[in-house]
Amino acid sequence: MPGPLNKLKNLFSSKPTKNTSTTSTSTSTSNKPSHKMTYNSILILGATGLIGPHLIPALKKAYPSASISALVRPGSDKIAAVQALGVKVIEQDYSSGLETAVKGYDLVIDSANSADPATTKAAVEGLKGSKATFLRLSGCGNFINGSKTGEYDHDAKLWDDSKAEDIAAIHDAMFNGAGDVVAINAAKEGLEAFTLTIGGIYGVPVIKGASSGVFVNLYSSNAKQLGYTPVIGDGSGVMQMIHIDDAVSAIIAVLKYTETASGASAHRYFIAPGFDYTWKRLAEVFGNALNLSPKTVSFEEAGFIAGLIGSTMKSVGTKTAELGWKATGPTLEEVLPQVL
Ligand SMILES: NC(=O)c1ccc[n+]([C@@H]2O[C@H](COP(=O)([O-])OP(=O)(O)OC[C@H]3O[C@@H](n4cnc5c(N)ncnc54)[C@H](OP(=O)(O)O)[C@@H]3O)[C@@H](O)[C@H]2O)c1
Repeated sequence: MPGPLNKLKNLFSSKPTKNTSTTSTSTSTSNKPSHKMTYNSILILGATGLIGPHLIPALKKAYPSASISALVRPGSDKIAAVQALGVKVIEQDYSSGLETAVKGYDLVIDSANSADPATTKAAVEGLKGSKATFLRLSGCGNFINGSKTGEYDHDAKLWDDSKAEDIAAIHDAMFNGAGDVVAINAAKEGLEAFTLTIGGIYGVPVIKGASSGVFVNLYSSNAKQLGYTPVIGDGSGVMQMIHIDDAVSAIIAVLKYTETASGASAHRYFIAPGFDYTWKRLAEVFGNALNLSPKTVSFEEAGFIAGLIGSTMKSVGTKTAELGWKATGPTLEEVLPQVL
């Protein structure tokens, strides 16, 4: 079972482990200039997925003189397509040897599988003691309230990236929490590690035949298996969705911040949630694109992503907005028919 699916299965049975580290995440975005003024060598993990190939041109624009490399699964049929984006491809599976492979770069971006902490753990281990910057891309699946009713929960916690207590409350049992905790703790131990947590992304893949992204894949494979797009209760619970261009602009905004942010005063955790969609609306929009009809069902009948569909996700990127970032669309309704 792939990582994200396995994680969903376990999501409601795991006990939270508190993020025990003692130094809290600073909420200040004013920092002293550091040795990092730009990045000359960049390594990207996840270059054959949805985000990676969209991010590469934006990195080339933001860092025109940097050399950009990508670690790609050995023998991948997408190697030529990644090379065509103008990056050097190094064939490397992340399950072994990653500690060594990340060494020597100014910036390492982890856009692989945020539900499995193994890649972030290995990358952080390899970068320990260096002056490199590490950016982990994570997902707002962390911020669901765990309800099974499908109804909007007005009392659900609003996770705010400007609140040190919210960042400190991120824990291993959250959808992407274990890897987030690794990155947060690595920063406390001196690595220039940052996390950007993003809503469910929609966008047309750059590479033909590449993944449509973690969330769109999960939702559409669940619906196809069921033969309908499930709605639990009145479906007024909310999922946060973001267009790929907005996700990429958030990544670049955070990277620009990291060029001068360093040490204890740096803000380490950013959220880019995007737009609120009710689960009822998602069932209609995905239903139209997949030629399936929405169906009101019980939690038990809603498939392997029932844990998401029953929930309300509430997060806000106060710190990301302070960087000048804002989601501007296009909408899911406009884009999804081109994806599925
Ligand atoms: N899409 C979303 O809705 C969303 C939202 C928020 C956060 N995120 C996070 O952002 C990151 C990228 O998302 P995405 O949607 O672009 O993911 P994706 O389409 O599933 O792509 C994942 C990438 O990681 C590579 N990868 C995974 N395990 C690997 C391994 N063991 N060795 C080598 N390569 C490996 C994949 O290579 P192959 O192509 O060879 O499999 C692919 O390039 C993930 O961490 C995801 O959880 C995604």
